[in-house]
This record gives sequence, structure tokens and C-alpha cells, in this order.
Amino acid sequence: MKPLNIAIFGSSGAIGEALCFECANKENIENVFSFSRKGDNLNHKNITSKTVNYLDEDSLQKASLSIEVKLDVVIVAIGQLDNPEKSIRELSANKFIDMFNANTIPTALIAKYFLPLLYRDRTTKFASLSARVGSIEDNHLGGWYSYRASKSALNMILKGLSIEQKRLNPNSIVFGLHPGTVDSKLSKPFQKKGKEYFTPEFSAKKLVKVIDGKTTDDDGKIFAWDDTIIPY
Ligand SMILES: NC(=O)c1ccc[n+]([C@@H]2O[C@H](COP(=O)([O-])OP(=O)(O)OC[C@H]3O[C@@H](n4cnc5c(N)ncnc54)[C@H](OP(=O)(O)O)[C@@H]3O)[C@@H](O)[C@H]2O)c1
Repeated sequence: MKPLNIAIFGSSGAIGEALCFECANKENIENVFSFSRKGDNLNHKNITSKTVNYLDEDSLQKASLSIEVKLDVVIVAIGQLDNPEKSIRELSANKFIDMFNANTIPTALIAKYFLPLLYRDRTTKFASLSARVGSIEDNHLGGWYSYRASKSALNMILKGLSIEQKRLNPNSIVFGLHPGTVDSKLSKPFQKKGKEYFTPEFSAKKLVKVIDGKTTDDDGKIFAWDDTIIPY
């Protein structure tokens, strides 16, 4: 089997960075291209680090043109959770826009510029980190309006991409991932004493296993770290 080329976005985040190393240490890897807004420097012979602004299409286009190989896998690990609303009274238009800018729009724009880099004639995968709380069916607690909505919208984008990609490559698989509750900058403010959290490395190991196992039957769906399906 030919060695794999993988692009990972959000590589300065806890899970993004751990995903870069997990992928770079795989046996059959040619390149991991790691993208972040401020530029990271992940020290590994298989990792090439690049800087990109996820909301700037010129920047994304330049980033895509800088990749001179075809890709097998694209993983998006970008997101933010900031002061989630306990009640609709706490919602503001700016907050709503911020959550969509962090959790929804980057994946859509990355897809616009990076799906064309995926192979057309072999199995390819495009995965983005969603969250269990983006599931409408699984929402039993309410609240967190803007974050939940931004992840539900992300799930819809992934479903649409899965349909569009199939027309180009029947072996293309697009899906969402829930990483579990992981110790990171994002989850820090919500962590409770005495509760255990996954390390980013543990979550990344599980997520890569899930990604490796995906087949065309899994197209357009959302999977948790333990490979269970999360309903829309
Ligand atoms: N941690 C958890 O328990 C948990 C649970 C469910 C889902 N998730 C999802 O997993 C993903 C990774 O989260 P994490 O825990 O690794 O968080 P993290 O350590 O805070 O990393 C988040 C990443 O997203 C980027 N980012 C943050 N705000 C952004 C914005 N406004 N616009 C564009 N990029 C932004 C950051 O880039 P910079 O470094 O450039 O700021 C960073 O690379 C997110 O999508 C999150 O929703 C996490």
C-alpha cells in the first residue's frame, strides 16, 4: 500500500496536536501537514507545519496550493467553547457568530479548498471534530445554545459534503467525530473536581482507530471516540 499523506487543521490545539503525532507515528506515513492559525512547530520527521487563517479564503487557497501531493485523509480539530449559555437570556448575536466562526465555518471552507486535493481513485477520508452536544436527539439538558447549534450545523455540513463527494469518488468517506471529554484549554473551565478526563493522547489514539476503521457504509455519520454512532 502506498504511504499516506494527511492534513490536520487545528494542530496547536490539544487534540489537534496529539492527532498530528499519532498519525506521524503510524507505520505507513509519508507526510503529516499540520495547520494552525499561529503556526506551531511540531518536532517530528514526518510533520510539516504550516500557518493558515481558517476564515480567510486567500489564505486557505495559498495553503492548499502549497501541498504538492495528493491527500488520503483530512482531519479538522478546530473549535471553541466560550461561556456557554445556561439560558436563552444569555445569548447574543456576537456570541452566536463567534461560535459559528470557530466551530462550523472553518470546516466548510477547509472542505472547499482541500477536498479537491484528495485522491479520486482510492479510499479517502475527511473528518471533523464535532461534539456529542451537537446531537439534537441527544439534547436532554438544553442550554449551550450557540455551541450546540454550531456543532449541529457542522454535522449538516458534513452530511452535505458526504453526498457531494460521492459524485466525484465513490470511495470517499466524510464523517464527524466526538473525542470524549478531554483535558484541554477548551474543556478546562468546565472540568469538575474528582471527574476523570481523557488525555489528548488517549483521545487521539482512539480517534485514529475510528478513522482507520471507517468504510463507505459510515459516510455522513457522526462517531464517538469508542466508535459508537451519535444520532443527529
Ligand atoms: N475537549 C473536549 O472535551 C471536547 C469535547 C467535545 C468536542 N471537542 C471538540 O474537539 C475539538 C478540539 O478541541 P480541543 O479540546 O483540542 O480544544 P483546544 O485545545 O482549545 O484547541 C482548539 C483548536 O481550535 C482553534 N481555535 C480555537 N478558537 C478558534 C476560533 N475562534 N477560530 C478558529 N480556530 C479556533 C485553536 O487554534 P489556535 O491555537 O490558533 O487558537 C486550537 O487549534 C473542537 O472542535 C472541540 O469542539 C472537544
